[in-house]
Amino acid sequence: MLYTPPYTSEPLRSEVLSFLADQPKRLFIGGQWVEGAAGRVFEKDDPATGIVFARVCEGDAEDVQRAVDIARTIFDDPRHPWRRMTPHDRERLIHRLADLIEADRETLAQLITLENGKPLTASKGEVESSVRMFRYYAGWPTKIEGDVKPVSIPDRLNYTVREPVGVVGAIIPWNFPLSMIAWKLAPALATGNVVILKPAEQTPLSAVRVCELIQQAGFPDGVVQLINGFGETAGAALVAHPGVDKIAFTGSTEVGKVIMRAAAGNLKRLSLELGGKSPHIIFDDADLPKAALTAAYGIFSNAGQSCNAGSRLFVHRKVYDEVLSRVAERATSIKVGPGMVQGSEMGPLISREQFARVQRYIAAGLAQGARLRTGGGRPPDVPADGYFIAPTIFEDVHSEMSIVREEIFGPVLAATPFETLEEVAARANDTPYGLAAGIWTRDIGRAHKLAALLRAGTVWINCYSQFDPASPFGGYKQSGFGREMGHEALELYTNVKSVWVGL
Ligand code: NAI
Ligand code: MG
Repeated sequence: MLYTPPYTSEPLRSEVLSFLADQPKRLFIGGQWVEGAAGRVFEKDDPATGIVFARVCEGDAEDVQRAVDIARTIFDDPRHPWRRMTPHDRERLIHRLADLIEADRETLAQLITLENGKPLTASKGEVESSVRMFRYYAGWPTKIEGDVKPVSIPDRLNYTVREPVGVVGAIIPWNFPLSMIAWKLAPALATGNVVILKPAEQTPLSAVRVCELIQQAGFPDGVVQLINGFGETAGAALVAHPGVDKIAFTGSTEVGKVIMRAAAGNLKRLSLELGGKSPHIIFDDADLPKAALTAAYGIFSNAGQSCNAGSRLFVHRKVYDEVLSRVAERATSIKVGPGMVQGSEMGPLISREQFARVQRYIAAGLAQGARLRTGGGRPPDVPADGYFIAPTIFEDVHSEMSIVREEIFGPVLAATPFETLEEVAARANDTPYGLAAGIWTRDIGRAHKLAALLRAGTVWINCYSQFDPASPFGGYKQSGFGREMGHEALELYTNVKSVWVGL
């Protein structure tokens, strides 16, 4: 029986229906669509309704073993077409993939909304930004250069080359299922690596679709392989495998630490993009209406399920009441509903598990004495069994509360007043995380002074949540290490070789 979302203003496209008709969705190993070695299948539900609508083959350690064997055969064979491919041809292949993703935009967007729950407009935006990511990195293969080094030893020539690290395991989360694929795949392929992709078990479908397009684009078999499955089995097997040279991970700080320990066996290269508890700071001289709107956007977009969510709001005491009223007004006006319904601005949370987790945090906030300004439960007029939570704002919070200390990954904002720059810098930095921060002021001296004091990988001044393939993104402290995007990401996927020549 094919699934028809009960709440939708747009019928499922015929491409989506035929994609869903062919189930269970398989793994992609060595250029073949195969079932998992153990023959197991897992179910995928629609976050807007809780209804299971897809079945997916579950990969585990045995499938990872097969994929790594194939990946190694490719990478370790200097005559393999992928290893011999010229930078120019690699560029063309990645461009072809970008074109195919762009042409498949509407189908991919529906699949993302079905599996993740986010509004269709957001899913379309995600497809577009993923296309830009592939195009940006398609330009790199022909521009990655080495150096000739000015060594002081007579009759010696020394030069450097950048080589791919080898077999890359990409383990990604469910909050931006396609963007996270693009962030890892694009630079990894541009630099000539072989990739094994392990998507989140909550969002296995868009990854299958992308692999169909990868096959169509003409990548040699096995250059990209897909193992859908669970973190503790498929993910852990990839991390522990001695044949994998690098793990690129986005997800929780907790699992980041597990991965770091588990990768020690062969000293894998690691890049970890982990959790956050980002401060959003508004001074009294800011453009207040714009700052308040953006603060609401910074926490409530993607239902708060963003690593860079501005979940701690600091507002100068003089304008605190005015700004909070504006943020709360926006919070209550956000249209929460199924992503497939036109006009929904915020969808459900990803899963029953996350729904319960966010509710636990809200209960803890109340129990610890925070004051609920708005939200705190299910919004009105949403499907009864969907994982919806209303935009929620807490006030009277202090730094020891779990809603201030821990990443909630839901639409929950903790707001508090401040008085001086030094004070707010210290409080903003009082967190184990260091992913991002926002500053609103018209005083450029103050803006840059505070930007310098904040221990965060990204600082947005008079804007928030801006991303571009050219600009690096990544964490300080326990938000991880390594920078994705920009030329910085090329370093994650290459080794530098220094070559000496006696003349
Ligand atoms: P998670 O960190 O468990 O999952 C992320 C990815 O890691 C998934 O593909 C999962 O299958 C894989 N994974 C899980 N355990 C693994 C292991 N032992 N070895 C290898 N791979 C493993 O995140 P989860 O459970 O989905 O969400 C829990 C919390 O994590 C969220 O509430 C949020 O706070 C945080 N999170 C942060 C993200 C970010 O973008 N920074 C993204 C997703 C979750
Ligand atoms: Mg987990």
